Amino acid sequence: MTRTLITGGLVVTAAEEVLADVLIENGTVVALALPGRHQWSAERVFDADGKYVIPGGVDAHTHMELPFGATVASDTFETGTRAAAWGGTTTIVDFAVQPKGTSLRAGLDAWHAKADGRCAIDYGLHMIMSDVNESTLREMPGLIGEGVTSFKLFMAYPGVFYSDDGQILRAMQQAADTGALIMMHAENGPAIDVLVEQALARGERDPRYHGEVRKALLEAEATHRAIQLARVAGSPLYVVHVSAREALAELAAARDLGLPVFGETCPQYLFLSTDNLAEPDFEGAKYVCSTPLRPKDHQEALWRGLRTDDLQVVSTDHCPFCFKGQKELGRGDFSKIPNGLPGVENRMDLLHQAVVDGHLTRRRWIEIACAAPARMFGLYPRKGTIAPGADADVVIYDPHATHTLSAATHHMNVDYSAYEGRTVTGRVETVLSRGEVVLDRGHYLGRPGHGAFLPRSTCQYL
Ligand code: URP
Ligand code: ZN
Ligand code: ZN
Repeated sequence: MTRTLITGGLVVTAAEEVLADVLIENGTVVALALPGRHQWSAERVFDADGKYVIPGGVDAHTHMELPFGATVASDTFETGTRAAAWGGTTTIVDFAVQPKGTSLRAGLDAWHAKADGRCAIDYGLHMIMSDVNESTLREMPGLIGEGVTSFKLFMAYPGVFYSDDGQILRAMQQAADTGALIMMHAENGPAIDVLVEQALARGERDPRYHGEVRKALLEAEATHRAIQLARVAGSPLYVVHVSAREALAELAAARDLGLPVFGETCPQYLFLSTDNLAEPDFEGAKYVCSTPLRPKDHQEALWRGLRTDDLQVVSTDHCPFCFKGQKELGRGDFSKIPNGLPGVENRMDLLHQAVVDGHLTRRRWIEIACAAPARMFGLYPRKGTIAPGADADVVIYDPHATHTLSAATHHMNVDYSAYEGRTVTGRVETVLSRGEVVLDRGHYLGRPGHGAFLPRSTCQYL
């Protein structure tokens, strides 16, 4: 039996803040006690005096190795999960993709093959359905049985991932029958494609036009439609990467009616804006993602939504493309810029900065970054908290250390940082994944293959 003891830290969970010693045996948290009350013996002791002891982050939205247009997201499961660990995230839920014309099975097997034996931290999988038909609908219960309990649909990207309203309704009906959670990319893709064509015809080719054609109202309209379709089907709904305050208002109205509708936003929408998309010399391409960054004045609504629980989760939508050779594919035509931003390494620190800045309380930080994503996607209390019986995915966090985010020092396999030069207060000191030390005071001690696939139960908010 291996015993690890973390002494004297402030244990912060979504529910409590308590000074406590934490005892870990064989990868599981077994006890919390008042500091020094028990003279536990342990092979490894970490002194967390003056530090926070928090659950490892749960990032429920990543895209390692995602094929997008003419290219593929630049983090592999090996590099991306290592970077996640550097940033205090110990669980990711990535999106397996069903390429059009194939089965869910084929897409899921392909994703297992990419991830198996390569991850530094534990991982689950959602399933992107790009072809909703009789056969793929029939496959859904089998996947749920294997622990893939959430399915992403797209109202955007006609011809690629897009599902029409009839397909969405059918998938939602199947979700209502089986307990699955439908995750929705809510943007009106056909309308956006018209605006893209018109913008290009006018010679509007720079990255900033990506933000202009993907209008907030088209996010809000799709969000409203997704909610009504879910009501008709009697299914729950989780809207991913919410960026527009008008879309958030649709979620808030639905939740006020007591509907099982949930929403996620991402650090890029909280910390970045259309000002970044408008950076000159094609630098704006670094910030092209969908839904797009919005004008700064949307941020306050998102922070408020996080405080009022109209938004429950902050995930990264980590989908990195290098500036050189990848983002550059869209020079002269913003519609060819691969969509996505890096961020899996930055989320816990940026959200802690939000605590420092007064947007969130410490417990809400842990709730939106650890506990709620774990509950939303059927991983709680194994992940997302520190309590007897939980996996010992534990981070010792120094709330006073400052550091500057930069591509020169980050560990994501991408040649730029969306937060280049931003100094944040708070830093990961030690990371344990199921009791194994992955990171300690700047030394990476993890290994590919430590991370295991996590079969998930269905959504625990229902
Ligand atoms: O721009 C983004 N978000 N890229 C990843 C794919 C998606 O829609 O989540
Ligand atoms: Zn999406
Ligand atoms: Zn995504």
